[in-house]
Amino acid sequence: MQETKGGGTPAVEPGIIDPFARSINYLRLSLTDQCNLRCRYCSPGAGRKLRRADLLRYEELLRFIRIAVDLGVRKVRLTGGEPLLRHDVLSFITDLAAVPELADIRLTTNGVLLERYAEGLYAAGIRKLNISLDTLRPERYHKITGADLFHQVWRGIERAQEIGFDRIKLNIVALRGVNDDEFVELARLTLVKPWQVRFIEFMPVGGAAVWDRSRYIPTTEIMERISVLGEPAPASDSGISGPARLFRLPGSCGTLGFISPISNHFCDRCNRLRLTAEGMLRSCLLSDQQTDLKRILRNGGDDEAVRAAIIEAIRHKPKGHGLKPGETGDCHGRMSRIGG
Ligand code: 5AD
Ligand code: SF4
Repeated sequence: MQETKGGGTPAVEPGIIDPFARSINYLRLSLTDQCNLRCRYCSPGAGRKLRRADLLRYEELLRFIRIAVDLGVRKVRLTGGEPLLRHDVLSFITDLAAVPELADIRLTTNGVLLERYAEGLYAAGIRKLNISLDTLRPERYHKITGADLFHQVWRGIERAQEIGFDRIKLNIVALRGVNDDEFVELARLTLVKPWQVRFIEFMPVGGAAVWDRSRYIPTTEIMERISVLGEPAPASDSGISGPARLFRLPGSCGTLGFISPISNHFCDRCNRLRLTAEGMLRSCLLSDQQTDLKRILRNGGDDEAVRAAIIEAIRHKPKGHGLKPGETGDCHGRMSRIGG
């Protein structure tokens, strides 16, 4: 295994190179398993709730992140559950933004608290936001998420745009019989808003707990439905590459993104490492393989022990999940705890 340290100027992308030549430089951090919504494809309310003491403390997270950055991580995404529910999240982000060489901190939120938090998030150093929004119809939003909060979320998104975040991405989980009649309407948003509207294939994460798997729709079908708006042209993204394939509709100011974890998985380009809310280090969303980082941090493990755990997790990162539509894979953890 080859390693590039944070200090120099590596000739290739920073990060530890795993056995399949992937450069691991992106960390997704679940700050809490708690959520103020109950999206039916995620159901974070199910199962035992983590106690506060189960969560990694901010100083533990910062210590871990400094070591990960030293090993080449350059991008961190804060997820949940709903990360804005974590106590004092803004001061944590401010501390995170002060970690040298951590170039990019992003946040995935359901937007419920965005109107209130947008300004603070910007001031703390966040520039890129992913916001879940599976529908533009308030009643349907209520049905999918269990909360009548569409308008509140929409105001949060508009507030974020006013403030001037560099990039706003809307995450739509494509669900047959639920929001598939809205794909055109959702895609049309890119004609009037400078946002990235992303269609995500429904993933059977969480074992038997997930919603009906027959709701899965492949990207090809989503694109076909959207094609009534004109031929989308491929668009490119800057920075560390993500899994979305990007397109632009004729005359649009935003972009369309398609994320196809099932039909066209991006495992061969996956640069991710995850830390769950309870401090488990996972190198793959769809595998239950994990390292108990919290135990190392709380049992007096030195920085070398943490480094070794990270390197070991990356060394065992699976080549891919090989999951086909309708299969659940090895992952029985819930998305809200692992970090979506
Ligand atoms: N399949 C696909 N995407 C999902 N998300 C949550 N659960 C699933 C699932 N089963 C996505 C949501 C949210 C992000 C955190 O994870 O779009 O925006
Ligand atoms: Fe909450 Fe996100 Fe799960 Fe929806 S998908 S219930 S917003 S964690």
